[in-house]
Amino acid sequence: MPHRILFITAEYAPLAKTGGLADVSAALSRDLHRRGDDVRVFLPWYASIAASGLETWPVDFLQDLEITLGVHAYRYSVRTGSAPGSDLNLYFIDCPALYGRPGIYTEDEDESRRFLLLTRAALECSQRMGFAPHIVHCNDWHTAFAPLLLKTLYAWDGLFAATRSVLTIHNVAYQGVFGAAHAAELGLGDASWLLHQQDLAEGRVNTLLHGILYADLVTTVSPTYAAEICTPEYGAGLDPFLRSRGGRLVGILNGVDYDEWDPSRDRLLPARYDAHDLSGKLECRRELAERTGLALGTGTMLLGLVSRFVDQKGIDLMIPALPAFLRRQDAAVVALGSGEARFEEFFAALEREFPGRVAYHKGYDEPLAHWIEAGSDAFMMPSRYEPCGLNQMYSLRYGTAPIVRRTGGLADSVAHYDRADGTGTGIVFDHYDAASFGWALDYAAGLHREAAHWRRLLGNAMAKNYSWERQGALYVEEYTRLVGPA
Ligand code: ADP
Ligand code: GLC
Repeated sequence: MPHRILFITAEYAPLAKTGGLADVSAALSRDLHRRGDDVRVFLPWYASIAASGLETWPVDFLQDLEITLGVHAYRYSVRTGSAPGSDLNLYFIDCPALYGRPGIYTEDEDESRRFLLLTRAALECSQRMGFAPHIVHCNDWHTAFAPLLLKTLYAWDGLFAATRSVLTIHNVAYQGVFGAAHAAELGLGDASWLLHQQDLAEGRVNTLLHGILYADLVTTVSPTYAAEICTPEYGAGLDPFLRSRGGRLVGILNGVDYDEWDPSRDRLLPARYDAHDLSGKLECRRELAERTGLALGTGTMLLGLVSRFVDQKGIDLMIPALPAFLRRQDAAVVALGSGEARFEEFFAALEREFPGRVAYHKGYDEPLAHWIEAGSDAFMMPSRYEPCGLNQMYSLRYGTAPIVRRTGGLADSVAHYDRADGTGTGIVFDHYDAASFGWALDYAAGLHREAAHWRRLLGNAMAKNYSWERQGALYVEEYTRLVGPA
């Protein structure tokens, strides 16, 4: 008998994506489905999905339903369709009043209700479908009220009697903190004392915190990050609560969806290649240079970057380090990303300062992200913190040396290349400062000049396997620990 899993998420690749949450939601749910679990994924019917042409149809017994959140009444309907590339069923909460807006996230006053409605609608649809989940698996702050709601609002329903909840934290820095007035929208009544009282007294309600307090199991996306978030430095204020979960906080490294991210079958690339024959990679590098206006010599080391431009990603280290590096080495940079203006302006200025050696593309561009992974020699991820990080694992498979800081999932997936014994898959530095990052860039450039070392490094990297087949099994183990074998 398979596990029945209600999986609730704000992002799902490629339909609704701002970052790795989308990749992981899609790949993990498909992996569980492949194993034979009965997985039902719930996400909002964002305007962008509605416009995407995805084939869906209304679920006839889930039409024009009502949910009241405090003084706000919403009507919603459910559409279903197959996840792209799979026959896994997705369920979309169609509530134009909340989701009929550009973008996935907003800064609007009702942001808390947009995701509270998703959470409640998923649980209520489960009831209407007569679907008794073994596991309600919620992700990040958006759906982190699910465990508390199961223990209060929905506790009367025997359907959930054996249900256990899992919260996966993809990033503890995003907590969904709203004014205390929003607490009433949960409709907890007599059970309101279960809300964190001191926060309320101080005028706020922290969504993620309640997931940490009430989920039967809390997971996060790498073992190192699981340890880090229990410290004040990385816990973003929630470390005492995370520490108190003890053994109920588990780190499981994300996997890679090699159906999407493998250079031997990547449909988005101008040429394909694998570890035995890298000539396609050279072709990708040439095409990438041509497309982005870079003039590369044969010995030029091309550094890639694909990132959300936020504080987390270590772009502030690049501001002093990259211009100096470009002055002293035969190197070039191709960067894709958008976010904070100071980082966008830095790359725009760098491109002006180093014409033909720096190419910056502002925005979000899926095909270009693949081209950069394939066409670059090395990939920069000097993150301040990194719960898991996917691009460094993509880089390994694409034969693109990751240059990473030893933190979170970067520490768990990249080993520093050791010239003495030829082991290691990338370049790893410890301290979060520009000098250390500069050292790592120089170390990479040195290795890149020595063909034998570079070949060895890329060989080690490409041999790594972070498939969901392995990582998904770790989730199944945790589910089984909670509810018994399927
Ligand atoms: P995070 O979720 O913190 O952004 P991850 O490394 O886990 O970091 O995942 C980022 C995902 O988003 C990767 O699939 C990456 O390729 C993609 N991505 C990030 N920025 C862009 C962009 N500007 N254009 C295209 N894809 C992007
Ligand atoms: C978050 C983290 C990233 C992680 C992703 C998927 O966005 O920032 O490190 O890989 O979630 O779990």
